[in-house]
Amino acid sequence: MTTLTTQVAIIGGGPSGLLLSQLLNRAGIETVILERSTRAHVLSRIRAGILEWGTVELLQVAGVDARMQREGIPHDGCYMTDDERMVHIDFLELTGKRVMVYGQTEVTADLYAAQDAMGTTVLHEVSDVEILDLDQPRSAVEFTHEGTRKRLECLYVAGCDGFHGVSRKTIPEHKRQEFERVYPFGWLGILSETPPVNDELIYSNSRHGFALASMRNSNLVRYYVQVSLTDKVEDWSDQRFWDEFSRRIPSDAAGRLITGPSIEKSIAPLRSFVSEPLRWGNLFLVGDAAHIVPPTGAKGLNLAASDVYYLHEALIEALSGRGTAGIDAYSEKALSRIWKAMRFSWQMTLMLHRFDDEDAFAAQMRRATLDHLAHSETARRDLAENYIGLPF
Ligand code: FAD
Ligand code: DHB
Repeated sequence: MTTLTTQVAIIGGGPSGLLLSQLLNRAGIETVILERSTRAHVLSRIRAGILEWGTVELLQVAGVDARMQREGIPHDGCYMTDDERMVHIDFLELTGKRVMVYGQTEVTADLYAAQDAMGTTVLHEVSDVEILDLDQPRSAVEFTHEGTRKRLECLYVAGCDGFHGVSRKTIPEHKRQEFERVYPFGWLGILSETPPVNDELIYSNSRHGFALASMRNSNLVRYYVQVSLTDKVEDWSDQRFWDEFSRRIPSDAAGRLITGPSIEKSIAPLRSFVSEPLRWGNLFLVGDAAHIVPPTGAKGLNLAASDVYYLHEALIEALSGRGTAGIDAYSEKALSRIWKAMRFSWQMTLMLHRFDDEDAFAAQMRRATLDHLAHSETARRDLAENYIGLPF
């Protein structure tokens, strides 16, 4: 068996794995990334679009912010609407901070380019990953790559392999506690080369269900509608999407909506999920490997970034011989921020979606929540503070 060695083995070449690797490499720590898919596949997945300012700053620290600074669009606020009112949440005025519109695909592409420039080993299309000896001073990851079984010896393993990865499942079941909420709907998202319907995002809680108007640039939009869990992408022609989307957004926005062919269309189910703890011996879980949020609060990618922030500092401390206090505290520290983002994402999901089996009371609660937002600066500030991201 071919044997490789490194300091930190990183499983998963999505945003978590790449950003962690980049930050560690810049501190002089060696990493090897093992990714199940091809690079083209990783870069073809259309996902998050909103970066908290803390994420923007972390990308800056990682030295991967040049294109984002040029092409990203800072947003100072967004709108929360229903069929009766449109509430502006002015992030900048309420918190002094803003968010950045810059797609996860672009962040990932920038990170791959930086890792290439750094000469990091990133092995794609690896399979049958097995994590071994997590309770020993040296651990190992065995995997199949280019038809041969290989062994990567390391000091630490970062499990950055998403919800369906192997890392979380390496922790014995009786040592894990899982918390989950599955929501009875999904989001159908499209990308279309058309100008945005509004200069800021619109989160709309209409009587026909939720819709979100987001964007990537001045001629590329990302729009979503809440759909039934049984719906398939094939059920949604472009025409059906545009008809549904335009009746769910405020009428003046619908009046200026420019439609066009979709260039991507996909359905994502919504769930909240946390697995505790995030550490098992020399293994540390990061990002979607440990937790999933419904996309309503735009927190998935940003939570991955805050996990990476805590873990990279802790690993640098441990690997430079300054002790294990950071890695010992990682799980607790990261989970405390994760649970607050869980709460916010859950609350936003309840506030903005129509549930199939709901009663009239639920709809009144949503109306009252929006009404309260419209009239209380305190309520708007609370929303803004969570949306722009709690401090790391
Ligand atoms: P991932 O991006 O899942 O990366 C994990 C990587 O590990 C993948 O490249 C995978 O191929 C690889 N991998 C998996 N198993 C193995 C294995 N056994 N061995 C080696 N490699 C492996 N967030 C938002 O904020 N807004 C959104 O609109 C939004 N939309 C989303 C839509 C979908 C369909 C999904 C799945 C997520 C969405 N998210 C969204 C969440 C956000 O994209 C994630 O939080 C983010 O991708 C987390 O990054 P990650 O690197 O932790 O995990
Ligand atoms: C986008 C996705 C989200 O989940 C969200 O809350 C805001 C924007 C997006 O894809 O642009």
